[in-house]
This record gives sequence, C-alpha cells and structure tokens, in this order.
Amino acid sequence: MTSPSYAAIDQYLEQLFTPPDEALEHALRASEAAGLPAIQVSATQGKFLHLMARMAGARRILELGTLGGYSAIWLARALPQGGRLVSLEFDPKHAAVARANLAHAGLADCTEVIVGAALDTLATLVQRGSAPFDFIFIDADKPNYPTYLDWCLRLSRPGTVIVADNVVRSGAVLAPAPSDANAHGAHAFNAQLAADARLDATVLQLVGGKGHDGMAIAIVKG
Ligand code: SAH
Ligand code: DHB
Ligand code: MG
Repeated sequence: MTSPSYAAIDQYLEQLFTPPDEALEHALRASEAAGLPAIQVSATQGKFLHLMARMAGARRILELGTLGGYSAIWLARALPQGGRLVSLEFDPKHAAVARANLAHAGLADCTEVIVGAALDTLATLVQRGSAPFDFIFIDADKPNYPTYLDWCLRLSRPGTVIVADNVVRSGAVLAPAPSDANAHGAHAFNAQLAADARLDATVLQLVGGKGHDGMAIAIVKG
C-alpha cells in the first residue's frame, strides 16, 4: 500500500482544522498579487502558532519577519482584549502589504509593523525599555537567527515562549558546517538553543505542503 503524500495529508488536516477564512485567504491573495514570495507558514502551522500563543496566555507578541502578515493574523487573533503584536520587517513593500492585510482582518489597532533590519529594530526596542514579550516568533533571515536569539532573550521574562521557523531545512542542518547560509544559521541557532542554560527547548520536524522543515520551541526559565 502506498501512503498518501504528506501534502495530501496536510490538505486533509487543513479541511478539518482550518476552515475557510476570508481574512486569511485575502492576505494570501493580496500577497501573491503584490509579488511577495509564498513562503508564509502553512495553515496548520499558523493554527499551531495561534494555539501556542493562547496556551501561553500571551498578551504581548513579537514577530521577526512579517512578509504579508499571514502568520501575524494567526498570532494577533490569539491576543486577549488590550493585547498587542509587534512585527519586524525589513522590506517596506512587505510591511505595507502586511499592514493592509492586518487592517482587512480587523487587527489594525492591536498590531504594529516596524520597518527596518531586525537587528536595528530589536536594539531600538531594548533601548526604549520595551516591556517583555510573552511569545516571540522568529521567522526573518536565517543567518541572523543566533543573534536574534540573544536580542529576544533581552526582550523576554521567565516563561516567555520563543518559537523559530525553518530550523531543519530539509535536513541541510545536519551538516556540521552547512555551506548554505540559511542551513548554517539554523545549525548555529539549534546549537545555541540547546546550550543556553536560560532556555528549555526542543525542535519538531514538520512535513507537508511546505516540504520538510522544523520549528524550534523554547521557554525562558525562571
Ligand atoms: N512570518 C511570515 C513569513 C516571513 S518570511 C509568515 O509566515 O507569514 C521572512 C521575512 O523576513 C520576509 O518578509 C523578509 O523580507 C524578512 N526579512 C529578511 N531579512 C530581514 C531582516 N534583516 N530584518 C527583518 N526582516 C527581514
Ligand atoms: C523559506 C521558507 C520560510 O518559511 C521562510 O521563513 C523563509 C524562506 C523558503 O522556503 O525559502
Ligand atoms: Mg518561515
């Protein structure tokens, strides 16, 4: 018996757990129309992020890498009244598409997209004495993941949940010194995550519509 493909099973799971949603579909259509790359999290991954943020009781969420705001919509919908999502994006065009998509989803008031290189905008958040975030999703440029982790820890408190996308890269991360800069970033990030005494972490391998990759999940210790 041949097994159904991972992509087919992803579709089956999407039908069950992520019913049609006008705002999310609009965000995907508008992103595609604007020429953004279709590299957002899958629907089931978006739902997973949403559930984790709710389980963490997150009132303040930080995202690195907004793209067209697809994962930001999933995450912002996890916020309670008065909660806030801040998302950092390098490309002003991506940020403009994301702001419009968040507004279309009715989330303009509880979200903010900050344009700039995340290394700069993270430093600005720290300098301004930002309150700690309860949930952080790292999904921007992969080579900077190790440095992003350091900055994110400065914007955390004990109990903050840190999730990072794309840390398996179809197994390219296995090489001791991956030649691909993205896999190299993920390799160094995973090692840092495992070694940092301030964190408890693991990585889940993921398959499906986006191919074979993984998400890291960590909690900042008390
Ligand atoms: N989280 C999104 C996907 C993000 S794709 C979703 O799932 O819907 C990665 C994004 O990171 C892209 O929009 C890219 O422009 C942005 N990015 C790349 N380098 C960056 C940097 N140095 N600082 C901030 N964002 C960056
Ligand atoms: C790719 C996938 C991602 O989830 C991402 O954040 C960046 C790039 C990719 O497949 O190229
Ligand atoms: Mg990603």
